[in-house]
Amino acid sequence: MAVVSVNRVVKSFGNLVAVNDVSFEIREGEIYGLLGPNGAGKTTTIKVLMGLLDPDSGFATVFDIDPQDDPIGVKNLVGYVPEEEQLYDSLTPRELFNFITSVRSLSREKTSKRVRGMVKAFNFKDYYDSMIVTLSHGNKQKTMLIAALLHAPRLLILDEPFSGLDVRTSRIMKNILRIHTDTGGTILLSTHVMEVAQGLCDRVGIIANGVLVGEGTLDELRKQSQEEGATLEEVFLALTQQEDEVREGVDILREALTR
Ligand SMILES: Nc1ncnc2c1ncn2[C@@H]1O[C@H](COP(=O)(O)OP(=O)(O)OP(=O)(O)O)[C@@H](O)[C@H]1O
Ligand SMILES: [Mg+2]
Repeated sequence: MAVVSVNRVVKSFGNLVAVNDVSFEIREGEIYGLLGPNGAGKTTTIKVLMGLLDPDSGFATVFDIDPQDDPIGVKNLVGYVPEEEQLYDSLTPRELFNFITSVRSLSREKTSKRVRGMVKAFNFKDYYDSMIVTLSHGNKQKTMLIAALLHAPRLLILDEPFSGLDVRTSRIMKNILRIHTDTGGTILLSTHVMEVAQGLCDRVGIIANGVLVGEGTLDELRKQSQEEGATLEEVFLALTQQEDEVREGVDILREALTR
């Protein structure tokens, strides 16, 4: 059974087709990376999976549940870290985690153990009792990740989880993702960091202008783009047809910025 299944999903905003007939599947235990330029449709696809947006046509399932029919059922099985911070400013992380434990009716003992482990690993103790509004961007990211993992979800959906994290935290984060899959979990993450995707993801889907333009392991993508021995960054730029644009852009910049 596919953990995530996206079937011919189309989602428009007015005249703009943000996601255009996208299909892919994620298997149990996989780390699947959704890559694409700014505005490609990654977040929109993720929001369809979380039941936050309804597709115009096509459908998605998460553990065979359609988020349109049962968004709560999906949320119970998924730990979601959105692209933009969504936190209660006036709570402290401790209060937030207690609140989530209570509304989700989780075992206090089990969540305390998880929180203790993550607070230690993230070096987060000093911020644990500070109001969320006072936290730095990276510390808010850590708060969201801990919150998303409290209910021991089987699937993690992370929209650019590495943005703004320091070196140590990124390393810890990668380990958390590995531990999650080692213990039977599955991950969908979107990222712009090609090194992260290349080192971490079992398979990636590359989306450009709402269309899935490539999918597979790095080797499969090299074949698709006819870029033998290329890095994921090179494959990505080839498949999203940005190689020439980058070259031209650099030439123009060199001219424009010359003193
Ligand atoms: N609520 C909205 N109303 C109108 N247009 C939207 C809305 N949400 C997204 N879009 C548009 O849909 C397209 C896809 O956006 P999306 O956020 O999915 O891109 P993305 O791949 O996540 O980009 P990024 O890498 O910048 O996060 C963009 O052109 C965006 O401007
Ligand atoms: Mg996005």
